[in-house]
Amino acid sequence: MTLNRAVAVGCGHYLPERVVENAEFEKSLETSDEWIRTRTGIERRHFAADGEKTSDLATKAALAALEDAGLTGHDIDAIVLATATPDQTFPSTATRVQHAIGMEKGFAFDVAAVCAGFIYALGMANSLIASGQAHRVLVIGAETFSRIMDWSDRSTCVLFGDGAGALVLESRPGNGDKNDRGILSTDLNSDGRYNDLLYVDGGVSSTQSAGVLRMQGQEVFKHAVVKLAESGETAMAKAGITADEIDWIVPHQANLRIITRTAHKMGVPMTRVVVTVQDHGNTSAASIPLALSVARARGQIKDGDMLLMEAIGGGLAWGAATMRW
Ligand code: UT7
Repeated sequence: MTLNRAVAVGCGHYLPERVVENAEFEKSLETSDEWIRTRTGIERRHFAADGEKTSDLATKAALAALEDAGLTGHDIDAIVLATATPDQTFPSTATRVQHAIGMEKGFAFDVAAVCAGFIYALGMANSLIASGQAHRVLVIGAETFSRIMDWSDRSTCVLFGDGAGALVLESRPGNGDKNDRGILSTDLNSDGRYNDLLYVDGGVSSTQSAGVLRMQGQEVFKHAVVKLAESGETAMAKAGITADEIDWIVPHQANLRIITRTAHKMGVPMTRVVVTVQDHGNTSAASIPLALSVARARGQIKDGDMLLMEAIGGGLAWGAATMRW
């Protein structure tokens, strides 16, 4: 059976210039490089400059992905942009990127699923391509989490960073089996009973302010390992593949201990896991596309490789996707 597959034809990323090493936090907080490294795997992160917005990061990542694909904004039918730190309440950050890349047709919208946002955006883009509503979709994850930090809370402010990654997906005919290139399966989940584990304590209709991030880290950690492994296994089953067929897990980069335990649970060795958390920290929806782009640049992910992507965050919202590059 021939069907439309959403095939990756380009990717790119952008990281703000300012790099903040763990040691910088020692000046203002009771913390240490040693604690941050051993509990999270994070060594440094990038922070956006004053006035640098999520759409600026997203646009640079989008242009890099378009260049990688040999395309321009005119060739794109839709933008799906995952972010929890939009420039404005409205319009969508996606439409700002649409304008900035010179895309004058089609449609653009944001997806709000926090750290799982890129997986959700992939799911939406895949549906648009599978149903024939779009031929080429730009999928972006972009965040400026430095704008929603409580700088006096050492349990959260050392964890996050800013950045953006983008992927160009193009409709190509496939046979409907696991040998096809493109997205083979997605698995999306959320459970609002866990809203209080990870949230921002402000918002337009509640406090009329942006608020700052609050997290019960240990609780999120426990859910993460179980739910990510379950979702990863569901995504593999939907695609008809097993763990030994995965060339690369490209996980959400929140904590190296979560990444390691999840891979172990799924039976994939760390030699086949893309790790960027040491350099980026947790960039929420940007972390997977950033990792994809860095791994392509490192020569890790090659054409034809089978990928498993997985992420979890506020909601709780979580999911996984399999894709043959
Ligand atoms: O991307 C969205 C999904 N988010 C995640 O996946 C995050 C999941 N959670 C985690 O990654 C981890 O739970 C954290 C990294 C947030 C925390 O690590 P932990 O090993 O769970 O530490 P903890 O919260 O149990 O805290 C242990 C100790 C506490 O001190 P006491 O009570 O034992 O005296 C904390 O106060 O570590 C202390 N602590 C710190 N110490 C130095 C917390 N943050 C820091 C810090 N520096 N920055």
